[in-house]
Amino acid sequence: MTAIDFDPLSPAQRESPYDLYAEARAHAPVFYAERYGFWVVTRHSDVLRVLKDGETFSSRDALTSSHVDLPPEVQAVLDEGWPEMPVIIDTDAPLHTAIRGLVTKAFTPRRIAEMAPRIEELASELIGELRPDGEADIVRRFAWPLPLTVVGEMLGVPRADLPRLHEWSVHWLRLKQPGATLEQQLEWAKSTVELQRYFMALLDERERSPGDDLTSALLAAAAQIEPPLVREAVMGVPLDLVVAGHVTVTRAIGNALVVLLREHGRAEELYTDPSLIPAAVEEILRLESPAQGLYRTTTREVTIGDTTLPAGARVMVHYGSANRDERVFACPADYEPRRDGLNRHLAFGKGVHFCIGAPLARLELEIALRLLLERLPGLRLVGGPLAWEPIFFARGLERLDVSWDPS
Ligand code: HEM
Repeated sequence: MTAIDFDPLSPAQRESPYDLYAEARAHAPVFYAERYGFWVVTRHSDVLRVLKDGETFSSRDALTSSHVDLPPEVQAVLDEGWPEMPVIIDTDAPLHTAIRGLVTKAFTPRRIAEMAPRIEELASELIGELRPDGEADIVRRFAWPLPLTVVGEMLGVPRADLPRLHEWSVHWLRLKQPGATLEQQLEWAKSTVELQRYFMALLDERERSPGDDLTSALLAAAAQIEPPLVREAVMGVPLDLVVAGHVTVTRAIGNALVVLLREHGRAEELYTDPSLIPAAVEEILRLESPAQGLYRTTTREVTIGDTTLPAGARVMVHYGSANRDERVFACPADYEPRRDGLNRHLAFGKGVHFCIGAPLARLELEIALRLLLERLPGLRLVGGPLAWEPIFFARGLERLDVSWDPS
């Protein structure tokens, strides 16, 4: 069996992990990542199988790349909050079904469609602020604030609170991957508790005076659930929507600009024919998937292809690799928005945990790309190496410098 040196935090694999995944798909489609102690599933068909079999592959700790216990000092900080807070992405049936039902009741297609004019307005506002500068870190000035403001407004969160929610969200996620110092872990644990307290207070506040926002709709839906959900399960929903609803779209905007601006002609094609933007968005999500892979835990011994995994094994389902599987996508490394079978990509997952925010993400991305190309003529990358984030399960940029023609 070919040894695959899986090390997504190394500079080389942050720059481009895809040759390694191609080698894995060909020679070791399900391999054990020695350094981190989990299995990685790389082929499209195997990833689909795992995602569709929630009984064998539990979603417990779906965001956690390392199973090493946290140091007691860090755990003590977390214990000041709600250490057992269930989060939709991390739960299995029947709790998952109950929480998901709650979200789908409140996070309706109508509520999302109604956001379109507001997303357009917010995107225009952000572009208007940066346009006179001729150059910007587009991640900081646009890709973070746009989706965060959108989800914040949906939930009824005051705009002034968004910067700290952003920082706490990033810390909450960082605590779930290995390689941090004790000092960092302590800081991130404090942020996690702050994030929980914030949303608990928001629930209390909306209970006293409900509004026309998603938080109030969630509370109304929760009141109808039998048996009732524990309070922290309800609080976990807006918390998760804020985190899942902005970090992913932020990454997708940055990745889209890299894909479009690295090769001459791609951005011009979309500018000339905006009807191609929805397909381009899907193709970019396939090529540079913001969620590269999440985790499952086996509930029994199970064989995938030639590999047998014991019960209790940690498994990374690799959407990023599946989305470049040559068995499904012809010339998978090429950008081809007109390709056949584009809708088979797994950037939003599949099965019962399929991304609830996919319609909102698509809407935000389509509006963002159209307006950036329209309003920043001659948009181009400022040279230099790309700053890919040191995050295990995601692919996105810490910053992205772009410039455009003065208007
Ligand atoms: C381009 C942007 C996005 C990407 C690539 C993405 C990706 C994903 C993926 C791969 C999953 C499946 C997780 C699994 O199988 O364990 C997921 C689930 C989820 N996403 Fe997204 N997402 C995006 C945007 C959003 C947005 C905008 C929201 C909400 C505002 C959102 C909310 C959620 C939630 C709540 C779940 C959990 C669903 C469940 O466990 O039943 N996502 N997302």
